[in-house]
Amino acid sequence: MPKLNYNSKVVFAVRNVLLLLSVGEVVGSMSVSSSLRPNIIFILADDAGWNDFSFHGSAQIPTPNIDALAFSGAVLNNYYTSPLCTPSRGAIVTGKHPIHIGLQHYVIRGDTASGLPLSEKILPEYMKELGYSTHLVGKWHLGHAERVYSPTYRGFDSHYGYWLGNQDYYDHTSTDAGYWGYDFRNNMTIERPAFGEYNTDIFTQESVRIIQQQETDKPLFLMVTHTAPHSGNEYNPLQAPQENIDKFQDSIEDENRRVYAAMVDKLDESVGRIVAALGEKGMLNNSVVIFASDNGGAPEGYNLNYGSNWPLRGVKNTLWEGGTRVAACIWSPNIMNRVSSDMMHASDWLPTLYEAAGGNVTNLGQIDGLSLWNTLTTGESSPRHEFLYNLDDIYNNSAVRFESWKLIQGNISTLDFDPIPWDGWYGHYPYNTTVADLVPQILGSRVATALQSIGFSLETDTVKRLQEAADIKCNETLPEIACNPYAEPCLFNIVEDPCEKRNLAGEESTLVAQLLALLNSYNSTAREVIDLSHNPEAAPYNWDYVWTNWKDYL
Ligand SMILES: *[C@@H]1O[C@H](CO)[C@@H](O)[C@H](O)[C@H]1NC(C)=O
Ligand SMILES: *[C@@H]1O[C@H](CO)[C@@H](O)[C@H](O)[C@H]1NC(C)=O
Ligand SMILES: *[C@@H]1O[C@H](CO)[C@@H](O)[C@H](O)[C@H]1NC(C)=O
Ligand SMILES: *[C@@H]1O[C@H](CO)[C@@H](O)[C@H](O)[C@H]1NC(C)=O
Ligand SMILES: *[C@@H]1O[C@H](CO)[C@@H](O)[C@H](O)[C@H]1NC(C)=O
Ligand SMILES: *[C@@H]1O[C@H](CO)[C@@H](O)[C@H](O)[C@H]1NC(C)=O
Ligand SMILES: *[C@@H]1O[C@H](CO)[C@@H](O)[C@H](O)[C@H]1NC(C)=O
Ligand SMILES: *[C@@H]1O[C@H](CO)[C@@H](O)[C@H](O)[C@H]1NC(C)=O
Repeated sequence: MPKLNYNSKVVFAVRNVLLLLSVGEVVGSMSVSSSLRPNIIFILADDAGWNDFSFHGSAQIPTPNIDALAFSGAVLNNYYTSPLCTPSRGAIVTGKHPIHIGLQHYVIRGDTASGLPLSEKILPEYMKELGYSTHLVGKWHLGHAERVYSPTYRGFDSHYGYWLGNQDYYDHTSTDAGYWGYDFRNNMTIERPAFGEYNTDIFTQESVRIIQQQETDKPLFLMVTHTAPHSGNEYNPLQAPQENIDKFQDSIEDENRRVYAAMVDKLDESVGRIVAALGEKGMLNNSVVIFASDNGGAPEGYNLNYGSNWPLRGVKNTLWEGGTRVAACIWSPNIMNRVSSDMMHASDWLPTLYEAAGGNVTNLGQIDGLSLWNTLTTGESSPRHEFLYNLDDIYNNSAVRFESWKLIQGNISTLDFDPIPWDGWYGHYPYNTTVADLVPQILGSRVATALQSIGFSLETDTVKRLQEAADIKCNETLPEIACNPYAEPCLFNIVEDPCEKRNLAGEESTLVAQLLALLNSYNSTAREVIDLSHNPEAAPYNWDYVWTNWKDYL
């Protein structure tokens, strides 16, 4: 294994060399294609588990549209995010690790006075510079205390959706920080007509409307950040239309899991409709479509939604693989039929998509993200060899990765109101049918049909081969060695032991020291956490029971 003597300067120097290399590739690809920049459609699920999509090996919740997208393009099987919504979304839009934007601790609350620092230039702003129309449909969760933090002041031409972290799927009220209020906007206007409509449906309709109305001489950047399958408000956490719940009447016994399955089913339908709309508009053959979760599912603990990260360890809001290694896939006409094991981090999307759009990644300045566009399109090996899971000195936990090695330490259970470690393996739902039985559904899905009509047809054998390749299994014969991260760092070889069962810290003390040094070098670059203190002025009862940009009105 390579020597681990990185300090941050070396890391940045190595990255700059890589950036220069990828610039060369841009020159090459731009000279062959002078046509319109590709449309970029980024569909983000909220708190969906690793095991909640049939492309990962469980047929319990069939997701034929998402599977068709994944198997026609690439399953991103080694993709990592932060274990919580705000930091993951911050990394996606800035190309920076949350420790470099002050979002490494918990999430932005309804009564937080700040947001994603205004000094950051974000993805839609970069896309606008390249001539894109930019639209956000769905959740924001990166700050709203002043209007300048909100989406339409940060590069989005329009926003239809909500500002906080979770809400009721039908009445669009959000409970947060002990308060309750309406949270739905059309740009800055409070959107009352949305009341009573199911989020996944209205976000899909708005996305389809945007696609239909797109001027086809202009490229589209559309982010669809679904509520699903996040839990709703505490008093009614699992919500889906009855007809979708009924589809699972015979196959899923657990009532909560059945509603969760219906939430995922609606999500799959949404992906089908959005891709079909791109096809009908003649845009699909020049589009990049991404589907990803923001962090792991919550089969237990915080924001419990009955998702499943099986066979990965842990839950949302933990630095175990179940919280951070998440379901994701990408399709473009240049990415074909692969399961990618290239290491990728949420911060890589900004440079990857900027390069896909024909931008010069040197314009992005000093970021943490690396462009994987070349890796994804040509199969060249990933430029990424390491990443920081997170480093949170308030909760006192951290985890870092170098190649296959992961070090994890500290208080992994992080919430005063949820102090259980959640360090086990949850959400194992044995199931009768196998994913191979889903092949006809996948081939008959809206996504497969739309792709076929532009010349990309999926074959049964390809699907079966990729289903097999995307299914991560624990090595049941690997002898377990317990880990107590509260007492001392644990070390895992994630490639050989994706389920984190064999703690090798005792056997590999040199590696432990090297990974601790790597962690220290990241730590020396961390910035202070943004001010997350509570502000009663934000409470919706002060503002006609609406969550608002309260600081603008004081
Ligand atoms: C990208 O930017 C760098 C630095 O400004 C420049 O040297 C390089 O020529 C640019 N590449 C392209 C393709 O414009
Ligand atoms: C939101 O902004 C977009 C782009 O400026 C505009 O087309 C749309 O009409 C606006 N919606 C509302 C409700 O103001
Ligand atoms: C699995 O198969 C058995 C026997 O055919 C049946 O009784 C059971 O309901 C099935 N379970 C599921 C989850 O489909
Ligand atoms: C995509 O399809 C449209 C309409 O079917 C066609 O006009 C266009 O040339 C195609 N573009 C590419 C890049 O194949
Ligand atoms: C933080 O976690 C480490 C283990 O990683 C432990 O040794 C240390 O005592 C903890 N610090 C506090 C303040 O709890
Ligand atoms: C971990 O943090 C939780 C929540 O702050 C706290 O209740 C618990 O005592 C901590 N555990 C240890 C071992 O420090
Ligand atoms: C599982 O672990 C055992 C024991 O270390 C090892 O011999 C075997 O090769 C591993 N199997 C796989 C598929 O990695
Ligand atoms: C990070 O550095 C700070 C001092 O700047 C220190 O208090 C903290 O313990 C360090 N955290 C880790 C995980 O090394």
